[in-house]
Amino acid sequence: MDANLFPDDGIDSWNTVMLLYESAIKKMKVKVEILNDEFQQVHQYNPIEYIKTRVKTPDSIVKKLKRGGYAVDIPNMIEHCNDIAGVRIVCSFTDDIYRIAEMIGRQNDVTVISIKDYIKNPKDSGYKSYHMLVTIPIYLSDKTVDTKIEIQIRTIGMDFWASLEHKIYYKFEGQAPSYISEDLRECSEIVSILDTKMLQLNEAILQAKKEAQES
Ligand code: GTP
Ligand code: MG
Repeated sequence: MDANLFPDDGIDSWNTVMLLYESAIKKMKVKVEILNDEFQQVHQYNPIEYIKTRVKTPDSIVKKLKRGGYAVDIPNMIEHCNDIAGVRIVCSFTDDIYRIAEMIGRQNDVTVISIKDYIKNPKDSGYKSYHMLVTIPIYLSDKTVDTKIEIQIRTIGMDFWASLEHKIYYKFEGQAPSYISEDLRECSEIVSILDTKMLQLNEAILQAKKEAQES
């Protein structure tokens, strides 16, 4: 039983909290799908390739709290674990990442808590992605709860890199041999070059289409 990991707080509060995170994910997913549909209507292409969502497992929540030196209880988990609800948006082109992020941030019921731009400032590992920590209100029968979601926005190339790096990281328990880490950093550079080229190519295609329509 999941709630046994948090015995002092009772199963009811555990279930309510998890319901909030699951609802927040549902709501955010619909928001992003609507943006994608509208974009398709206006610009005749889909900026979003796919959306992945997940709720953090109780085991990972416990590990994270312990790592941070916090007692394992529900108030601490709400306060200190920002990535219990996770939404990953995978785009075709780097430009779309910033467009989507701006469109999400502008919505009235979305509160942006923080932004980490690992595209402009990649991690030492080579990791690139645009992270937003936001809250959205979830309306329960007797109260409204602002619920946190971690949104990661990246290109297909960045996503490919991150999943491979994640597997390697786990295989070596964070201690990969240096030649592998170096190769990964090099791959991250190659991904950036590919992303830039694909963006330029897409712009050239759109321009050519426009010119063909005008003539
Ligand atoms: P966490 O404690 O890992 O959640 O980190 P944080 O709270 O400092 O936030 P950060 O924005 O650095 O990372 C959050 C999430 O981004 C992670 O849970 C991963 O999903 C992803 N991430 C961050 N760094 C890396 C990396 O070097 N490699 C991969 N594959 N993913 C990463
Ligand atoms: Mg995390």
